[in-house]
Amino acid sequence: MSFDLLKTVEYGGCSAKLPPDQLTDALAGLTHTKHERLLVDINTHDDAGVWKLTDDIALIQTTDFFPPICSDPYEFGQIAAANSLSDVYAMGGKPINALNIVMFPQNRIGLDVLKEILRGGIDKVNESGAVIVGGHTIDDYPPKYGLAVTGIVHPDDLTTNAAARAGDFLILTKAIGTGAIVAGHRIEEGTENGYRQALESMKQLNSAGAEVMKKHKVRSATDITGFSLLGHAMKMAKASNVSFRIFAKDVPLLDDAYRLVEMGCIPGASFRNQRFAEEHCNFENGMDYNLKMLLFDPQTSGGLLFAVSEENVESALRDLHEHDNLQAAIIGRVEKKKSHMLYICK
Ligand code: CO
Ligand code: CO
Repeated sequence: MSFDLLKTVEYGGCSAKLPPDQLTDALAGLTHTKHERLLVDINTHDDAGVWKLTDDIALIQTTDFFPPICSDPYEFGQIAAANSLSDVYAMGGKPINALNIVMFPQNRIGLDVLKEILRGGIDKVNESGAVIVGGHTIDDYPPKYGLAVTGIVHPDDLTTNAAARAGDFLILTKAIGTGAIVAGHRIEEGTENGYRQALESMKQLNSAGAEVMKKHKVRSATDITGFSLLGHAMKMAKASNVSFRIFAKDVPLLDDAYRLVEMGCIPGASFRNQRFAEEHCNFENGMDYNLKMLLFDPQTSGGLLFAVSEENVESALRDLHEHDNLQAAIIGRVEKKKSHMLYICK
């Protein structure tokens, strides 16, 4: 397909989210109705809302959509769908169905491009075992695509932002750096190999991560998207009332990401994430600047970050590697709450 979707946007993917500090301000003071069946609401900044239907089944409901993150429409559809489905996996659930959310400029881009985006979405939803049940389209530029997803989980298997315990280890299931790599691709400074690797990573479902979490009785997880590894880790530490120690050198990086950041390919959203999270972070003296900026790099369809007991951490990591999460790594440890939410060791 010759139409380059990336040319329609300045910020694509999850880096088009509203800046986290502005979002916090916008939500401040709004009242949220409590309900006895609402197991997870907006208060813990979790990935999805969870509604208890019966003692054995809870509904997970979430939506994500964004402007293009890559050049090819089919791949954009796959990535946007994988990203939307990810919030169900981050809660330990299984997606069952989804609605398309589409904004598309009918007079500016051919409908064949829209068809390819939707085909990518359908294929990814099928791969997850869920089905598309409908959707909604609006004429708008630049194009945006995503899903509203419904998943299910047994209430006992639910994983939330708010259940990490001191002593747990932190596992991240995908490498980071998609923001820097897409920025590099846009100005033709990145390698083809690095770009392809980032696309494959963004397309990968977090389904294996959710299965591994269930098997190893994980209680606390999130997925890493636009607010960066440190931004999402911070939300999890805060909701769990603990501090995290992150071992920066153990955080898996996509090929080429470090080189691009060193060249100055740092997306604007990285600085917004830094502004939001840095006061809650304690960086060890002598921290490498490029690595630090990668820890603030906005991810699109990033991996799961979960807290697992010492007893289960090695087997969980082995299972992830066996299920094609080849770059999954132990990147930190949960500690008792201290003055900062995150302690980052170089
Ligand atoms: Co999420
Ligand atoms: Co989300």
